[in-house]
Amino acid sequence: MPRSYHRTGKYVLLGVSTLPARPGTISGMRPPERDTPSGRSTDHGNAAPTADVRDMFDRIAGVYDPMNLVISAFQEPRWRRVAVELAGVRPGDRVLDVATGTGKVAAALFDRVQPGGTVLGVDISPRMISIATRRFGDRRGIEFVVGDVLALPTEDRSFDAATIAFGMRNLPHYRRGFEEMARSVRVGGRVVCLEIARPRSLLARLLQTWFDRIVPLLGRVAGHGAAYGYLVRSVKGYPRPERIAEIMREAGLVDVTWHGMSGGIVTLHVGTVGGEAVTTAWGPRPSRG
Ligand SMILES: C[S@@+](CC[C@H](N)C(=O)[O-])C[C@H]1O[C@@H](n2cnc3c(N)ncnc32)[C@H](O)[C@@H]1O
Repeated sequence: MPRSYHRTGKYVLLGVSTLPARPGTISGMRPPERDTPSGRSTDHGNAAPTADVRDMFDRIAGVYDPMNLVISAFQEPRWRRVAVELAGVRPGDRVLDVATGTGKVAAALFDRVQPGGTVLGVDISPRMISIATRRFGDRRGIEFVVGDVLALPTEDRSFDAATIAFGMRNLPHYRRGFEEMARSVRVGGRVVCLEIARPRSLLARLLQTWFDRIVPLLGRVAGHGAAYGYLVRSVKGYPRPERIAEIMREAGLVDVTWHGMSGGIVTLHVGTVGGEAVTTAWGPRPSRG
């Protein structure tokens, strides 16, 4: 059974339980596909309510990994590897992976910080967290908890780095997501964001057209056509890399860089936590310690 983190000390209690209860879910029954959120990304965040996004990822958790491999033409392990490398973590470090899904990035980070390091994976979907825990939870020093990126169950400055892979475009407020990650990381630590992008080159745009057509089709074959339609919509309105870099700076990150991979289909942003006080878009935030 996945847990919301509530141990005192390292992290603090999370308010996921404040989300509305899942409508019409009876154990063992799949809610209807028509509940899938529109999910169109905008300049500042995804239009879908977090609870709808959570329910959708709960529904597709079982097919998520194999679908990802096929959709990415088996490129996603390489993308993740580069993201983990750019987190710049070392043995003994503490790392946070948010929107962790089935925990693959968290597990790769964990290998990097051995001996002695720890990783916390946070995701809004209890089913994703269940799978991550089942797969990697037996490693001492890795932990998976249910939580919202916009209200992370972490103390200020308590990690050496934070990562998010293919999660940012699902958040209703990108800046708040980056702020929460930046708040959780010590000054000088890195925040890394790997995300699908809208490429500009002709070849990449052709690939993107393939993606737009094939993804909902594959989703239908897997029994989740609507959810994979959401995936396409969420990529469409996602801001250009320059704008994401700007949002990261607004969130208090410095030395922000990015580069595209696979012809610009995915973008990797890296920022460093600056020395400013811990703040949010709504003003200074009281320390959670
Ligand atoms: C496309 S998956 C990426 C999972 C994983 N990082 C990977 O690389 O495979 C997006 C994940 O973001 C999670 N998510 C969406 N909104 C979230 C939120 N507000 N807080 C935490 N997790 C969220 C979903 O439950 C889902 O597991």
